[in-house]
Amino acid sequence: MIGGRLLENQARRESNARTYARSLSLALIRGEGVHLVDADGRTYIDCLAGAGTLALGHNHPVVIESIRAVLDSGLPLHTLDFATPVKDAFVEELFGHLPAGLAADLRVHFCSPAGTDAVEAALKLVRIATGRRTILAFSGGYHGMTAGALAASGPVAVRAPLGGTASEVHFLPFPSAYRCPFGVGGGEGARISVRYVERLLDDPHSGIPPVAGMICEVVQGEGGSNPAPDEWLRGMRRLTAERGIPLIVDEVQTGVGRTGRLFAFEHAGIEPDVLVLAKAIGGGLPLAVILYRSELDGWEPGAHTGTFRGNQLAMAAGTATLREVVAARLDAHAAEAGRLLMDGLRAALAGSPCAGDVRGRGLMVGVEIVDPAGEPDATGALPADGRLARAVQLECLQRGLVVERGGRHGAVIRLLPPLIITAEQVATVVDRIADAVRAAARARGKAVIGITVKSADDGLQGQGCHRASDEWPGGVPHDKQSPLRARQRPEEPAP
Ligand SMILES: Cc1ncc(COP(=O)(O)O)c(C=O)c1O
Repeated sequence: MIGGRLLENQARRESNARTYARSLSLALIRGEGVHLVDADGRTYIDCLAGAGTLALGHNHPVVIESIRAVLDSGLPLHTLDFATPVKDAFVEELFGHLPAGLAADLRVHFCSPAGTDAVEAALKLVRIATGRRTILAFSGGYHGMTAGALAASGPVAVRAPLGGTASEVHFLPFPSAYRCPFGVGGGEGARISVRYVERLLDDPHSGIPPVAGMICEVVQGEGGSNPAPDEWLRGMRRLTAERGIPLIVDEVQTGVGRTGRLFAFEHAGIEPDVLVLAKAIGGGLPLAVILYRSELDGWEPGAHTGTFRGNQLAMAAGTATLREVVAARLDAHAAEAGRLLMDGLRAALAGSPCAGDVRGRGLMVGVEIVDPAGEPDATGALPADGRLARAVQLECLQRGLVVERGGRHGAVIRLLPPLIITAEQVATVVDRIADAVRAAARARGKAVIGITVKSADDGLQGQGCHRASDEWPGGVPHDKQSPLRARQRPEEPAP
């Protein structure tokens, strides 16, 4: 089996920090539309879609055509930050789809081609512009893996081994209807959150130094598909605007139609001061930019430079993707398909006590897997069950469905299908997930009453889903710990 050999080579040669490849044993040879084909000829519906990058699915003709056109044109493939017609067309297209008020007064900065570098740029921009240091971020948020972006991300355990990266970031509770940080849930929780932030910002004894910027996602992706209510986002916009605090909206995952609008901030009718875009903006190729109000443009030439900021293929693919999403109204389609998906999942999982919550916005959907035998919290939510979610993910894979996991304890099955998914394919996804949840719960039940069943972990190469393990431990598993560390341990002072 070719796939087996590829996977073995990967396991032998690649870093212990690899991620998706641990929980999804896939060696891929083809992609078309919403489908992936592995090296042994198995076909999957891809609800991971390059972690939300492939808005138009795999190898969409308009994307392929745009890349071919650049290749045939003789344009240099890599152009640092020089002007080119392809870049000009990309910027024109992008500006053309932003709200008029914002587009009239906008600057774009091309970053190194990852969301995390664009977040670094955004944080640097507002710190330089305001002369302040502190960033407000939200629990459950995720902004990337480089030091500054990681410092503004929620998962503590990933940051912990690195030491002091979070010193200038203050975390605020993100509203959640299902796991409300204030213990009340629903719209009331979101209203309390706005009042809480308002008091905090105006409290001279809050402990928070003057704030350079607030960064948030409109729908938290890696945090477990948590949508912020529109009213809450309007509240954050009002509070930051009144106090001269730049609002950075990180749309690395939500941008380009995924949530049902071209940009997710449009749902709330607000305008950010800084917009961070990556993933789908490059049409599947690496590209990351920030867009910001010109009054923030106070940084010096070279303040955020980098070699790979001139990828012509990515700019062409990004332009083609934006045009197609707009022309085919794929944002509206994502809203409708997302509704079908969530309604379908709620109906199909109604009898499954381990499916605690189905939530999301547009085609950014999550199913939180819980332990029905656990103790409910103050608002009735059962404990998140990352192990069971991992079993569900594996059952999905066996049924030809690729899904991601995220959220606290890795307990949320995350769905980020291409925006071109049809109603029929949505129905198939619902059936496969419902079947997978039932199978995983059955296996768990048998294991609990002592019948020998294949463990949920069997067949997985290692621990972890997205960027670390269920608990985002950040640290490596004990059996993999570096000999250097092991040698040092005896000399460490006792705690
Ligand atoms: C909201 C958000 N911001 C930033 C990032 C980091 O992007 P990248 O993985 O391209 O560095 C991600 C990645 O998942 C993300 O979801």
